[in-house]
Amino acid sequence: LIHQKKYLVDGVLREWEGATTEVYSTISSREEYQPTLLGSIPDMGEPEAKDALEAALKAYDKGKGVWPTMHVKDRIESMEKFVRQMETKRDEIVKLLMWEIGKSLPDSQKEFDRTVEYIYDTIEDYKQLDRNSAKFQKHDGVYAHIKRGPLGVVLCLGPYNYPLNETFALLIPAIIMGNTAIFKPAKHGVLLITPLLEAFQNSFPKGVINILFGRGRAVAAPIMQTGKVDALALIGNSKSANALQSQHPKSNRLRLVLGLEAKNPAIILPDAEMQLTIDEVVAGTTSFNGQRCTALKVVYVHNEVKDTFLKNFAEAIDGLKFGNPWDDGVKLTPLPESGKPAYIQELIDDALAKGAKIINKKGGQHFDNYIWPAVLYPVTKDMRVYQEEQFGPVIPVLSFEDIEEPLDDMAESNYGQQVSLFGKDVYTLSPLIDTLVNLVCRVNLNSSCQRGPDVYPFTGRKDSAQATLSVHDALRSFSIRTFVAFKDN
Ligand code: G3H
Repeated sequence: LIHQKKYLVDGVLREWEGATTEVYSTISSREEYQPTLLGSIPDMGEPEAKDALEAALKAYDKGKGVWPTMHVKDRIESMEKFVRQMETKRDEIVKLLMWEIGKSLPDSQKEFDRTVEYIYDTIEDYKQLDRNSAKFQKHDGVYAHIKRGPLGVVLCLGPYNYPLNETFALLIPAIIMGNTAIFKPAKHGVLLITPLLEAFQNSFPKGVINILFGRGRAVAAPIMQTGKVDALALIGNSKSANALQSQHPKSNRLRLVLGLEAKNPAIILPDAEMQLTIDEVVAGTTSFNGQRCTALKVVYVHNEVKDTFLKNFAEAIDGLKFGNPWDDGVKLTPLPESGKPAYIQELIDDALAKGAKIINKKGGQHFDNYIWPAVLYPVTKDMRVYQEEQFGPVIPVLSFEDIEEPLDDMAESNYGQQVSLFGKDVYTLSPLIDTLVNLVCRVNLNSSCQRGPDVYPFTGRKDSAQATLSVHDALRSFSIRTFVAFKDN
Protein backbone atom coordinates (compact mmCIF):
# COMPACT_ATOMS: atom_id res chain seq x y z
CA LEU A 1 0.00 0.00 0.00
CA ILE A 2 1.21 3.49 -0.86
CA HIS A 3 -0.15 6.11 1.50
CA GLN A 4 1.10 9.15 -0.34
CA LYS A 5 1.54 11.84 2.31
CA LYS A 6 4.09 14.11 0.69
CA TYR A 7 3.64 16.90 -1.79
CA LEU A 8 6.16 19.23 -3.34
CA VAL A 9 5.90 22.98 -2.86
CA ASP A 10 8.73 25.50 -3.05
CA GLY A 11 11.35 22.77 -3.14
CA VAL A 12 10.15 21.17 0.09
CA LEU A 13 8.49 17.78 0.34
CA ARG A 14 5.82 18.82 2.80
CA GLU A 15 4.04 16.34 5.01
CA TRP A 16 0.27 16.22 4.56
CA GLU A 17 -1.78 15.89 7.71
CA GLY A 18 -5.29 16.53 6.40
CA ALA A 19 -7.96 14.32 4.91
CA THR A 20 -7.04 11.69 2.36
CA THR A 21 -8.81 9.84 -0.46
CA GLU A 22 -8.36 6.13 -0.95
CA VAL A 23 -7.03 4.92 -4.28
CA TYR A 24 -8.40 1.64 -5.62
CA SER A 25 -7.30 -0.57 -8.43
CA THR A 26 -9.82 -1.76 -10.94
CA ILE A 27 -8.13 -5.14 -10.75
CA SER A 28 -9.68 -7.58 -8.36
CA SER A 29 -7.43 -9.78 -6.30
CA ARG A 30 -10.33 -11.98 -5.16
CA GLU A 31 -12.52 -14.65 -6.69
CA GLU A 32 -15.54 -12.47 -6.22
CA TYR A 33 -15.01 -9.08 -7.83
CA GLN A 34 -13.87 -6.39 -5.46
CA PRO A 35 -11.58 -3.45 -6.31
CA THR A 36 -8.17 -3.65 -4.62
CA LEU A 37 -7.08 -0.91 -2.24
CA LEU A 38 -3.75 0.50 -3.43
CA GLY A 39 -3.27 3.36 -0.98
CA SER A 40 -4.35 6.94 -0.52
CA ILE A 41 -3.58 10.49 -1.60
CA PRO A 42 -3.98 13.87 0.09
CA ASP A 43 -7.27 15.63 -0.47
CA MET A 44 -5.92 19.14 -0.96
CA GLY A 45 -7.72 22.41 -1.42
CA GLU A 46 -7.32 26.13 -1.78
CA PRO A 47 -4.56 26.82 0.82
CA GLU A 48 -2.16 24.29 -0.71
CA ALA A 49 -3.09 25.40 -4.24
CA LYS A 50 -2.30 29.00 -3.37
CA ASP A 51 0.99 28.04 -1.71
CA ALA A 52 2.00 26.15 -4.85
CA LEU A 53 1.06 29.10 -7.02
CA GLU A 54 3.03 31.50 -4.82
CA ALA A 55 6.06 29.20 -5.05
CA ALA A 56 5.81 29.01 -8.87
CA LEU A 57 5.41 32.80 -9.10
CA LYS A 58 8.37 33.34 -6.79
CA ALA A 59 10.56 30.94 -8.80
CA TYR A 60 9.61 32.72 -12.01
CA ASP A 61 9.96 36.10 -10.28
CA LYS A 62 8.53 38.16 -13.17
CA GLY A 63 11.09 36.60 -15.52
CA LYS A 64 14.03 37.45 -13.23
CA GLY A 65 14.08 34.12 -11.41
CA VAL A 66 16.99 31.70 -11.35
CA TRP A 67 15.19 29.26 -13.65
CA PRO A 68 13.90 31.53 -16.45
CA THR A 69 17.28 33.30 -16.64
CA MET A 70 19.39 30.16 -16.26
CA HIS A 71 21.86 29.26 -19.00
CA VAL A 72 20.52 26.64 -21.39
CA LYS A 73 23.33 24.25 -20.49
CA ASP A 74 22.37 24.34 -16.80
CA ARG A 75 18.68 23.87 -17.47
CA ILE A 76 19.55 20.83 -19.54
CA GLU A 77 21.72 19.53 -16.73
CA SER A 78 18.74 19.68 -14.36
CA MET A 79 16.54 17.85 -16.85
CA GLU A 80 19.18 15.16 -17.43
CA LYS A 81 19.59 14.70 -13.69
CA PHE A 82 15.86 14.17 -13.43
CA VAL A 83 15.52 11.71 -16.31
CA ARG A 84 18.47 9.62 -15.13
CA GLN A 85 16.80 9.16 -11.76
CA MET A 86 13.50 8.45 -13.45
CA GLU A 87 15.09 5.61 -15.43
CA THR A 88 15.91 3.80 -12.20
CA LYS A 89 12.19 3.73 -11.29
CA ARG A 90 11.03 1.81 -14.37
CA ASP A 91 9.85 -1.40 -12.67
CA GLU A 92 7.99 0.45 -9.92
CA ILE A 93 6.21 2.81 -12.31
CA VAL A 94 5.33 0.09 -14.83
CA LYS A 95 3.78 -1.95 -12.01
CA LEU A 96 1.75 1.04 -10.86
CA LEU A 97 0.56 1.73 -14.41
CA MET A 98 -0.79 -1.81 -14.57
CA TRP A 99 -2.50 -1.68 -11.18
CA GLU A 100 -3.76 1.88 -11.30
CA ILE A 101 -5.14 2.07 -14.83
CA GLY A 102 -5.19 -1.54 -15.98
CA LYS A 103 -2.81 -1.00 -18.89
CA SER A 104 -1.21 -4.17 -20.24
CA LEU A 105 2.42 -4.95 -19.34
CA PRO A 106 3.81 -4.29 -22.86
CA ASP A 107 1.83 -1.04 -23.13
CA SER A 108 2.86 0.06 -19.64
CA GLN A 109 6.51 -0.60 -20.49
CA LYS A 110 6.03 1.27 -23.75
CA GLU A 111 4.49 4.22 -21.91
CA PHE A 112 7.47 4.42 -19.59
CA ASP A 113 10.13 3.99 -22.30
CA ARG A 114 8.38 6.39 -24.63
CA THR A 115 8.36 9.02 -21.89
CA VAL A 116 12.06 8.66 -21.21
CA GLU A 117 12.77 8.89 -24.93
CA TYR A 118 10.50 11.93 -25.16
CA ILE A 119 12.52 13.68 -22.47
CA TYR A 120 15.88 12.93 -24.15
CA ASP A 121 14.51 13.99 -27.56
CA THR A 122 13.14 17.19 -26.04
CA ILE A 123 16.57 17.96 -24.61
CA GLU A 124 18.15 17.44 -28.05
CA ASP A 125 15.55 19.62 -29.74
CA TYR A 126 16.02 22.30 -27.13
CA LYS A 127 19.77 22.31 -27.83
CA GLN A 128 19.02 22.75 -31.53
CA LEU A 129 16.58 25.56 -30.81
CA ASP A 130 19.25 27.30 -28.78
CA ARG A 131 21.88 26.85 -31.52
CA ASN A 132 19.50 28.37 -34.07
CA SER A 133 18.62 31.32 -31.87
CA ALA A 134 22.31 32.16 -31.38
CA LYS A 135 22.49 33.42 -34.99
CA PHE A 136 21.94 37.08 -35.79
CA GLN A 137 19.69 38.13 -38.64
CA LYS A 138 19.88 41.34 -40.63
CA HIS A 139 17.05 42.83 -42.68
CA ASP A 140 16.89 46.40 -44.01
CA GLY A 141 19.74 47.51 -41.78
CA VAL A 142 18.23 46.07 -38.60
CA TYR A 143 20.02 43.28 -36.80
CA ALA A 144 18.00 40.91 -34.64
CA HIS A 145 18.83 38.24 -32.16
CA ILE A 146 15.63 36.21 -32.03
CA LYS A 147 15.03 33.56 -29.43
CA ARG A 148 12.15 31.87 -27.65
CA GLY A 149 11.31 32.97 -24.13
CA PRO A 150 9.12 31.39 -21.44
CA LEU A 151 5.48 32.34 -20.83
CA GLY A 152 5.50 32.39 -17.02
CA VAL A 153 3.58 30.02 -14.76
CA VAL A 154 1.93 26.95 -16.26
CA LEU A 155 -0.85 24.90 -14.67
CA CYS A 156 -0.45 21.36 -15.88
CA LEU A 157 -3.11 18.62 -15.72
CA GLY A 158 -2.69 15.24 -17.37
CA PRO A 159 -5.12 12.44 -18.30
CA TYR A 160 -5.68 9.04 -16.71
CA ASN A 161 -5.10 7.04 -19.89
CA TYR A 162 -1.46 8.19 -20.20
CA PRO A 163 -0.85 9.45 -16.68
CA LEU A 164 2.91 9.41 -17.13
CA ASN A 165 3.49 9.99 -20.82
CA GLU A 166 0.97 12.65 -21.69
CA THR A 167 1.40 14.51 -18.43
CA PHE A 168 5.12 14.67 -19.06
CA ALA A 169 4.53 15.60 -22.70
CA LEU A 170 3.13 18.83 -21.22
CA LEU A 171 5.31 19.31 -18.15
CA ILE A 172 8.76 18.60 -19.61
CA PRO A 173 8.69 21.04 -22.56
CA ALA A 174 7.01 23.67 -20.36
CA ILE A 175 9.78 23.42 -17.79
CA ILE A 176 12.74 23.22 -20.13
CA MET A 177 11.61 26.43 -21.85
CA GLY A 178 12.06 28.28 -18.54
CA ASN A 179 8.48 28.31 -17.28
CA THR A 180 7.62 27.28 -13.75
CA ALA A 181 4.76 24.89 -13.10
CA ILE A 182 2.09 23.56 -10.80
CA PHE A 183 1.16 20.05 -11.64
CA LYS A 184 -1.64 17.79 -10.39
CA PRO A 185 -1.67 14.15 -11.46
CA ALA A 186 -4.81 12.57 -12.92
CA LYS A 187 -7.35 10.82 -10.68
CA HIS A 188 -6.26 7.37 -11.87
CA GLY A 189 -2.53 6.91 -12.32
CA VAL A 190 -1.71 9.18 -9.41
CA LEU A 191 0.38 6.97 -7.14
CA LEU A 192 2.91 6.45 -9.90
CA ILE A 193 4.13 10.00 -9.30
CA THR A 194 5.25 9.00 -5.78
CA PRO A 195 8.52 7.34 -6.88
CA LEU A 196 9.45 10.54 -8.74
CA LEU A 197 8.84 13.13 -6.04
CA GLU A 198 12.41 13.16 -4.76
CA ALA A 199 13.83 13.30 -8.27
CA PHE A 200 11.67 16.35 -8.96
CA GLN A 201 12.82 17.89 -5.70
CA ASN A 202 16.54 17.37 -6.14
CA SER A 203 16.79 18.09 -9.88
CA PHE A 204 15.20 21.51 -10.17
CA PRO A 205 15.56 24.76 -8.22
CA LYS A 206 12.89 25.32 -5.61
CA GLY A 207 9.48 26.34 -6.86
CA VAL A 208 10.11 25.35 -10.48
CA ILE A 209 7.85 22.30 -10.20
CA ASN A 210 5.16 22.15 -7.54
CA ILE A 211 3.11 18.99 -7.20
CA LEU A 212 -0.33 18.83 -5.64
CA PHE A 213 -2.83 16.02 -5.08
CA GLY A 214 -6.60 16.05 -4.85
CA ARG A 215 -9.63 16.76 -6.94
CA GLY A 216 -9.17 18.97 -10.01
CA ARG A 217 -11.90 21.38 -9.01
CA ALA A 218 -10.59 21.82 -5.46
CA VAL A 219 -7.02 22.43 -6.52
CA ALA A 220 -7.05 23.87 -10.03
CA ALA A 221 -10.00 26.27 -9.77
CA PRO A 222 -8.54 28.46 -6.98
CA ILE A 223 -5.30 28.75 -8.94
CA MET A 224 -7.11 29.87 -12.08
CA GLN A 225 -9.28 32.35 -10.17
CA THR A 226 -6.20 34.36 -9.14
CA GLY A 227 -5.59 35.23 -12.79
CA LYS A 228 -1.88 34.71 -12.18
CA VAL A 229 -1.43 31.67 -14.40
CA ASP A 230 -0.03 32.32 -17.88
CA ALA A 231 -0.77 28.96 -19.50
CA LEU A 232 -3.23 26.14 -19.01
CA ALA A 233 -1.83 22.83 -20.21
CA LEU A 234 -4.42 20.09 -20.08
CA ILE A 235 -5.06 16.78 -21.74
CA GLY A 236 -8.56 15.57 -21.01
CA ASN A 237 -12.02 16.77 -21.88
CA SER A 238 -13.24 20.13 -23.11
CA LYS A 239 -15.74 20.43 -20.27
CA SER A 240 -12.91 20.60 -17.71
CA ALA A 241 -10.80 22.79 -19.97
CA ASN A 242 -13.64 25.29 -20.54
CA ALA A 243 -14.58 25.32 -16.87
CA LEU A 244 -11.01 26.10 -15.84
CA GLN A 245 -10.43 28.62 -18.58
CA SER A 246 -13.56 30.52 -17.62
CA GLN A 247 -12.36 30.81 -14.00
CA HIS A 248 -9.42 32.92 -15.16
CA PRO A 249 -10.36 36.62 -14.97
CA LYS A 250 -8.17 37.45 -17.99
CA SER A 251 -8.70 34.27 -19.95
CA ASN A 252 -8.00 36.00 -23.25
CA ARG A 253 -4.37 36.30 -22.12
CA LEU A 254 -4.08 32.66 -21.20
CA ARG A 255 -2.01 30.41 -23.47
CA LEU A 256 -3.95 27.20 -24.01
CA VAL A 257 -2.15 23.95 -24.71
CA LEU A 258 -4.98 21.44 -24.86
CA GLY A 259 -5.44 17.88 -26.08
CA LEU A 260 -9.17 17.12 -25.98
CA GLU A 261 -11.84 14.82 -27.42
CA ALA A 262 -11.83 13.23 -30.83
CA LYS A 263 -14.08 10.96 -32.84
CA ASN A 264 -11.58 9.62 -35.35
CA PRO A 265 -13.25 7.70 -38.17
CA ALA A 266 -12.02 4.74 -40.17
CA ILE A 267 -13.15 4.93 -43.80
CA ILE A 268 -13.03 1.63 -45.65
CA LEU A 269 -13.14 1.85 -49.46
CA PRO A 270 -14.25 -1.03 -51.72
CA ASP A 271 -10.70 -1.95 -52.76
CA ALA A 272 -9.27 -2.01 -49.21
CA GLU A 273 -6.99 -4.94 -48.41
CA MET A 274 -9.40 -6.71 -46.05
CA GLN A 275 -7.14 -8.58 -43.64
CA LEU A 276 -4.87 -5.61 -43.08
CA THR A 277 -7.91 -3.35 -42.64
CA ILE A 278 -9.44 -5.65 -40.04
CA ASP A 279 -6.17 -5.94 -38.11
CA GLU A 280 -5.74 -2.17 -38.05
CA VAL A 281 -9.36 -1.37 -37.19
CA VAL A 282 -9.36 -3.96 -34.38
CA ALA A 283 -6.20 -2.41 -32.93
CA GLY A 284 -7.46 1.12 -33.50
CA THR A 285 -10.80 0.54 -31.79
CA THR A 286 -9.73 -1.70 -28.91
CA SER A 287 -6.18 -0.78 -27.94
CA PHE A 288 -6.34 0.11 -24.21
CA ASN A 289 -10.05 -0.68 -24.50
CA GLY A 290 -10.69 2.32 -26.73
CA GLN A 291 -9.57 4.72 -23.97
CA ARG A 292 -7.35 6.78 -26.24
CA CYS A 293 -8.12 10.14 -27.79
CA THR A 294 -6.65 8.70 -31.00
CA ALA A 295 -8.80 5.55 -30.91
CA LEU A 296 -10.99 4.84 -33.93
CA LYS A 297 -14.40 5.80 -32.58
CA VAL A 298 -16.59 5.35 -35.64
CA VAL A 299 -16.20 3.04 -38.64
CA TYR A 300 -17.53 3.79 -42.14
CA VAL A 301 -17.49 0.81 -44.49
CA HIS A 302 -18.46 0.90 -48.17
CA ASN A 303 -21.60 -1.10 -49.03
CA GLU A 304 -19.66 -3.29 -51.46
CA VAL A 305 -17.44 -4.75 -48.72
CA LYS A 306 -19.75 -4.26 -45.76
CA ASP A 307 -20.75 -7.92 -45.29
CA THR A 308 -17.21 -9.29 -45.49
CA PHE A 309 -15.92 -6.61 -43.17
CA LEU A 310 -18.67 -6.98 -40.55
CA LYS A 311 -18.37 -10.77 -40.38
CA ASN A 312 -14.59 -10.85 -40.05
CA PHE A 313 -14.39 -7.82 -37.82
CA ALA A 314 -16.97 -9.23 -35.38
CA GLU A 315 -15.05 -12.54 -35.19
CA ALA A 316 -11.74 -10.77 -34.67
CA ILE A 317 -13.17 -8.68 -31.80
CA ASP A 318 -14.56 -11.80 -30.14
CA GLY A 319 -11.18 -13.50 -30.48
CA LEU A 320 -9.37 -10.92 -28.36
CA LYS A 321 -8.06 -12.03 -25.00
CA PHE A 322 -9.40 -10.46 -21.81
CA GLY A 323 -7.41 -10.63 -18.60
CA ASN A 324 -5.16 -8.88 -16.14
CA PRO A 325 -2.52 -6.49 -17.51
CA TRP A 326 0.34 -8.92 -16.91
CA ASP A 327 -1.32 -11.90 -18.65
CA ASP A 328 0.42 -13.08 -21.82
CA GLY A 329 -1.14 -11.77 -25.03
CA VAL A 330 -3.87 -9.85 -23.19
CA LYS A 331 -5.66 -7.19 -25.27
CA LEU A 332 -8.68 -6.24 -23.15
CA THR A 333 -8.21 -5.27 -19.52
CA PRO A 334 -10.36 -4.01 -16.61
CA LEU A 335 -11.58 -0.41 -16.92
CA PRO A 336 -10.21 2.05 -14.34
CA GLU A 337 -13.31 4.24 -14.23
CA SER A 338 -15.94 2.52 -12.12
CA GLY A 339 -18.82 4.19 -13.97
CA LYS A 340 -17.56 3.32 -17.47
CA PRO A 341 -19.27 -0.07 -18.00
CA ALA A 342 -22.66 1.46 -17.08
CA TYR A 343 -22.06 4.36 -19.46
CA ILE A 344 -21.11 2.02 -22.30
CA GLN A 345 -24.24 -0.01 -21.57
CA GLU A 346 -26.33 3.18 -21.85
CA LEU A 347 -24.86 3.85 -25.29
CA ILE A 348 -25.58 0.29 -26.36
CA ASP A 349 -29.17 0.39 -25.05
CA ASP A 350 -29.81 3.68 -26.82
CA ALA A 351 -28.46 2.32 -30.12
CA LEU A 352 -30.47 -0.92 -29.81
CA ALA A 353 -33.64 1.05 -29.09
CA LYS A 354 -33.06 3.09 -32.26
CA GLY A 355 -32.54 0.09 -34.53
CA ALA A 356 -28.89 -1.02 -34.30
CA LYS A 357 -27.84 -4.60 -33.51
CA ILE A 358 -24.85 -6.02 -31.71
CA ILE A 359 -23.19 -8.08 -34.42
CA ASN A 360 -20.49 -9.87 -32.40
CA LYS A 361 -21.49 -12.77 -30.16
CA LYS A 362 -19.66 -11.56 -27.06
CA GLY A 363 -20.53 -7.89 -27.55
CA GLY A 364 -21.85 -6.23 -24.39
CA GLN A 365 -21.15 -9.19 -22.10
CA HIS A 366 -20.36 -7.95 -18.61
CA PHE A 367 -17.88 -9.38 -16.18
CA ASP A 368 -16.51 -7.67 -13.11
CA ASN A 369 -16.07 -4.05 -14.11
CA TYR A 370 -15.70 -4.83 -17.78
CA ILE A 371 -17.97 -4.87 -20.76
CA TRP A 372 -16.90 -6.73 -23.91
CA PRO A 373 -16.55 -4.44 -26.98
CA ALA A 374 -19.90 -4.35 -28.72
CA VAL A 375 -19.84 -3.84 -32.49
CA LEU A 376 -23.02 -1.94 -33.35
CA TYR A 377 -24.53 -1.90 -36.84
CA PRO A 378 -26.30 -0.11 -38.52
CA VAL A 379 -25.60 3.03 -36.55
CA THR A 380 -27.44 6.24 -37.36
CA LYS A 381 -26.69 9.82 -36.50
CA ASP A 382 -29.45 10.14 -33.91
CA MET A 383 -27.72 7.57 -31.68
CA ARG A 384 -25.65 8.66 -28.71
CA VAL A 385 -22.87 6.28 -29.69
CA TYR A 386 -22.46 8.27 -32.90
CA GLN A 387 -22.67 11.65 -31.18
CA GLU A 388 -20.59 11.13 -28.04
CA GLU A 389 -16.92 10.32 -27.60
CA GLN A 390 -17.37 6.87 -26.07
CA PHE A 391 -13.75 6.51 -24.84
CA GLY A 392 -14.36 2.85 -24.13
CA PRO A 393 -15.29 -0.54 -25.59
CA VAL A 394 -18.16 0.06 -28.00
CA ILE A 395 -17.73 0.36 -31.77
CA PRO A 396 -20.32 2.09 -33.99
CA VAL A 397 -20.30 1.05 -37.66
CA LEU A 398 -22.06 2.86 -40.51
CA SER A 399 -22.12 1.82 -44.17
CA PHE A 400 -21.96 4.25 -47.08
CA GLU A 401 -22.50 4.28 -50.83
CA ASP A 402 -21.03 7.65 -51.66
CA ILE A 403 -17.77 8.91 -50.13
CA GLU A 404 -19.43 12.30 -49.67
CA GLU A 405 -21.41 10.77 -46.76
CA PRO A 406 -18.47 10.27 -44.35
CA LEU A 407 -16.85 13.47 -45.61
CA ASP A 408 -20.00 15.46 -44.81
CA ASP A 409 -20.18 13.87 -41.36
CA MET A 410 -16.58 14.78 -40.67
CA ALA A 411 -17.16 18.35 -41.82
CA GLU A 412 -20.17 18.63 -39.47
CA SER A 413 -18.39 17.01 -36.52
CA ASN A 414 -17.21 19.10 -33.58
CA TYR A 415 -13.91 17.26 -33.74
CA GLY A 416 -11.05 17.09 -36.20
CA GLN A 417 -8.08 15.13 -34.97
CA GLN A 418 -7.26 12.23 -37.34
CA VAL A 419 -8.75 9.77 -39.83
CA SER A 420 -7.77 6.30 -41.07
CA LEU A 421 -8.33 5.69 -44.74
CA PHE A 422 -8.27 2.16 -46.16
CA GLY A 423 -7.98 1.59 -49.91
CA LYS A 424 -5.53 0.91 -52.73
CA ASP A 425 -6.29 2.88 -55.87
CA VAL A 426 -4.01 5.87 -55.89
CA TYR A 427 -6.29 7.86 -58.23
CA THR A 428 -9.14 7.50 -55.72
CA LEU A 429 -6.99 8.06 -52.66
CA SER A 430 -5.11 11.10 -53.83
CA PRO A 431 -7.99 13.63 -54.17
CA LEU A 432 -9.59 12.18 -51.07
CA ILE A 433 -6.45 12.83 -49.04
CA ASP A 434 -6.40 16.41 -50.31
CA THR A 435 -9.86 16.90 -48.79
CA LEU A 436 -9.24 14.94 -45.60
CA VAL A 437 -6.18 16.99 -44.63
CA ASN A 438 -8.50 19.99 -44.56
CA LEU A 439 -10.84 18.27 -42.13
CA VAL A 440 -8.38 16.72 -39.68
CA CYS A 441 -4.72 17.08 -38.81
CA ARG A 442 -3.43 13.62 -39.70
CA VAL A 443 -4.52 11.19 -42.39
CA ASN A 444 -3.40 7.62 -41.72
CA LEU A 445 -3.25 5.54 -44.86
CA ASN A 446 -4.08 1.87 -44.36
CA SER A 447 -3.22 2.16 -40.69
CA SER A 448 -5.03 3.03 -37.49
CA CYS A 449 -4.76 6.46 -35.87
CA GLN A 450 -2.01 7.19 -33.39
CA ARG A 451 -0.14 10.06 -31.79
CA GLY A 452 3.38 8.82 -32.36
CA PRO A 453 6.15 8.76 -33.31
CA ASP A 454 6.41 11.72 -30.97
CA VAL A 455 8.45 13.84 -33.35
CA TYR A 456 5.35 14.23 -35.57
CA PRO A 457 2.92 17.08 -34.87
CA PHE A 458 0.09 16.09 -32.59
CA THR A 459 -2.89 18.40 -32.70
CA GLY A 460 -6.47 18.70 -33.92
CA ARG A 461 -9.00 21.06 -35.43
CA LYS A 462 -12.18 22.43 -33.84
CA ASP A 463 -12.82 21.11 -30.31
CA SER A 464 -10.07 18.48 -30.48
CA ALA A 465 -7.05 20.57 -29.52
CA GLN A 466 -5.38 23.91 -29.00
CA ALA A 467 -1.69 24.23 -29.89
CA THR A 468 0.52 21.37 -31.01
CA LEU A 469 2.29 18.76 -28.97
CA SER A 470 5.26 16.84 -30.25
CA VAL A 471 8.90 16.83 -29.31
CA HIS A 472 9.51 19.71 -31.70
CA ASP A 473 6.24 21.65 -31.46
CA ALA A 474 5.69 21.55 -27.72
CA LEU A 475 8.77 23.70 -27.12
CA ARG A 476 7.13 26.31 -29.32
CA SER A 477 3.72 25.89 -27.68
CA PHE A 478 5.22 26.70 -24.27
CA SER A 479 7.22 29.73 -25.36
CA ILE A 480 7.00 33.01 -27.19
CA ARG A 481 9.33 34.61 -29.71
CA THR A 482 11.25 37.55 -28.27
CA PHE A 483 14.16 39.44 -29.71
CA VAL A 484 16.74 42.13 -29.33
CA ALA A 485 17.16 44.44 -32.32
CA PHE A 486 19.68 47.13 -33.15
CA LYS A 487 20.34 49.31 -36.16
CA ASP A 488 23.33 49.30 -38.42
CA ASN A 489 24.53 52.83 -37.63
O1 G3H B 1 -5.34 9.62 -25.54
C1 G3H B 1 -4.72 10.23 -26.39
C2 G3H B 1 -3.34 9.88 -26.69
O2 G3H B 1 -2.70 11.00 -27.23
C3 G3H B 1 -3.22 8.71 -27.59
O3 G3H B 1 -1.89 8.40 -27.83
O4 G3H B 1 -2.08 7.29 -30.03
O5 G3H B 1 -0.03 7.05 -28.67
O6 G3H B 1 -2.14 5.94 -27.95
P1 G3H B 1 -1.53 7.10 -28.66
